[in-house]
Amino acid sequence: MTYYETLLRELPNAPRTWLITGVAGFIGSNLLEKLLMLNQRVIGLDNFATGHQRNFDEVQRKVTGEQWARFRFIEGDIRELEHCHEACKGVDYVLHQAALGSVPRSINDPVATNSTNISGFLNMLVAARDAQVESFTYAASSSTYGDHPGLPKVEDVIGKPLSPYAVTKYVNELYAEVFAKSYGFNTIGLRYFNVFGKRQDPNGAYAAVIPKWLAAMIKGEEIIINGDGETSRDFCFVENAVQANLLAATASNSAKNQIYNVAVGDQTTLNDLFDYMRECVNRSGFRYSLTASHAGFRQGDVRHSLADISKAKNLIGYQPAWRIRQGLEAVTSWYVKQIL
Ligand SMILES: NC(=O)c1ccc[n+]([C@@H]2O[C@H](COP(=O)([O-])OP(=O)(O)OC[C@H]3O[C@@H](n4cnc5c(N)ncnc54)[C@H](O)[C@@H]3O)[C@@H](O)[C@H]2O)c1
Repeated sequence: MTYYETLLRELPNAPRTWLITGVAGFIGSNLLEKLLMLNQRVIGLDNFATGHQRNFDEVQRKVTGEQWARFRFIEGDIRELEHCHEACKGVDYVLHQAALGSVPRSINDPVATNSTNISGFLNMLVAARDAQVESFTYAASSSTYGDHPGLPKVEDVIGKPLSPYAVTKYVNELYAEVFAKSYGFNTIGLRYFNVFGKRQDPNGAYAAVIPKWLAAMIKGEEIIINGDGETSRDFCFVENAVQANLLAATASNSAKNQIYNVAVGDQTTLNDLFDYMRECVNRSGFRYSLTASHAGFRQGDVRHSLADISKAKNLIGYQPAWRIRQGLEAVTSWYVKQIL
């Protein structure tokens, strides 16, 4: 039995209180669903900047009334220290997900990205430290590898950031390290690599590639690939990210004050992604026969991304159970149900 399987068995017998910031968003609402299903108490903090009430509605439909009653939502903003203090009261484990994602958004509005991702992050660190929570796990990002060309990406070897977003996520790691030195407050940073799955928003200028393309394929619309399509990513299904969060939050002290890659260890080009997705969509009863067209490369994008996940495997027992194709099958059927 894996560490994670053991944890999933044990948690329901020992309910704890978890705080999820960014709980109305994609990853946050997937964490919420899993924790409520495990009979945990959850406090959620979100200001609906990019999150949605519909994500709560779906989680509520999936859990029992008793489980849903264990969720307390605070509509609030991590840029307000009092909201963070309020949310941290009585909390055992913090899973800090709230941030403004997207490289292009940060290039268009670096001030907004900075205030949520850096000032908001600092507020959460202070509030969690003051509340003496047992663990603080936060969403870091593979964008921190920046312009370093080495593959696979190993946690200790990073380059220079390529976007304001990448700066903010790197600053999070620096603050986290300094909080360990200055206050003995230990955290765990999870460097997510292109997470995808149900409830990831397909709409708007800053949508991520998988939900955006899926929605376009289901509607029969043309897809434009930025660049030559040989840009590659280590796409990580959200269930793997949920696993990493639960393992990190409950890890022993020796595994804390660390950063971990959260991915699968598979490199997929955008051209291959397009083909896999078209196969999935066509297997769900659609006829998508268009080929993609290509536009210029997007500013701030890293060219290749592939994670070495051995540190997370060895220190927190992370074992990603979902490869890209299985994740794409699952997510396609979910989007098909939403869009039809
Ligand atoms: N999805 C990915 O591939 C990926 C990759 C690397 C890192 N991350 C990080 O993971 C985290 C979650 O990302 P996601 O994909 O679920 O994005 P998301 O946009 O779906 O979720 C972010 C949530 O944070 C909330 N939020 C934003 N600003 C806030 C504020 N000031 N106060 C309170 N709540 C606020 C939003 O309303 C939203 O519900 C983010 O920190 C993101 O930077 C995501």
